[in-house]
Amino acid sequence: MLRTPATTLHIHDLTVRYGTAQGPRVALANVNLQLAGDDFVVAIGASGCGKTTLLNCIAGFLPASSGQLVLNGVPIQGPGAERGVVFQKNALLPWLGVLDNVALPLKLRGIGKAQRHDIARAKLALVGLSDLEDRAVWELSGGMQQRVGIARALASDPAVLLMDEPLGALDAFTREGIQETLLRAWAQTRKMVFFITHSVEEALFLGTRLVVMTPHPGTVAKVMDDLPFSRQFLAGADARQIKSQAEFIDLREEVLDLIYRKEHVYG
Ligand SMILES: Nc1ncnc2c1ncn2[C@@H]1O[C@H](COP(=O)(O)OP(=O)(O)OP(=O)(O)O)[C@@H](O)[C@H]1O
Ligand SMILES: [Mg+2]
Repeated sequence: MLRTPATTLHIHDLTVRYGTAQGPRVALANVNLQLAGDDFVVAIGASGCGKTTLLNCIAGFLPASSGQLVLNGVPIQGPGAERGVVFQKNALLPWLGVLDNVALPLKLRGIGKAQRHDIARAKLALVGLSDLEDRAVWELSGGMQQRVGIARALASDPAVLLMDEPLGALDAFTREGIQETLLRAWAQTRKMVFFITHSVEEALFLGTRLVVMTPHPGTVAKVMDDLPFSRQFLAGADARQIKSQAEFIDLREEVLDLIYRKEHVYG
């Protein structure tokens, strides 16, 4: 079987400064990360530690002040179709139906209606929304809208899916349901995912690799590799049992310690 080469994303000594009225503010300092293959990377850390800044640099929305980001051997210099973005607020277009919202990136690339609708239907199936393709987006619940946003980001078949707290605004039940949908879509598409969350449980459940960040200035405090929990879920284990096992709880405490230790130092 023909396999596309695995995605690589290398971040070398990335520093980002914002210009402010009080002078330059260092949002990220000397971040180094080597990400590869079908990693589900989760970035976690206290508010202001630079998670969104990092995602925006990967998306190509924001330039590095110094350092470099290299995707599949090519320096990132702006947005590109090989990176799909899901925002916290889904940014769907209310005047388009569900199917046309998902198909929109394909329309912008000049793909004909029949083909783009076929692709959009396949992506809606991936997120469990096949029966809603004819609905208006304002008829959907927040969780359904977020699934449509994920389907739309997958429509361009990106190498990397970037998600900035996509589940942050949802209630706990809906959130857990979408976490499971997301893992199944990841398993089927084998994309690299870069996902931001404030929830340590969500981070450990979804991620194969956890990037723990601390603020003042934003840096990577620790990278945890080969987390097993998402693969346990995909192999059939029950989500609640996974989250209540000792290994999960120990790691959760370790991550919380890393996040709050630094917080206490800076008050
Ligand atoms: N446009 C901007 N201009 C100036 N400073 C900014 C700008 N955007 C972010 N910052 C600052 O950069 C730092 C990192 O911000 P960023 O939004 O990346 O953090 P975050 O980890 O995503 O936080 P949150 O969890 O609250 O979303 C913060 O100190 C923030 O105040
Ligand atoms: Mg943010």
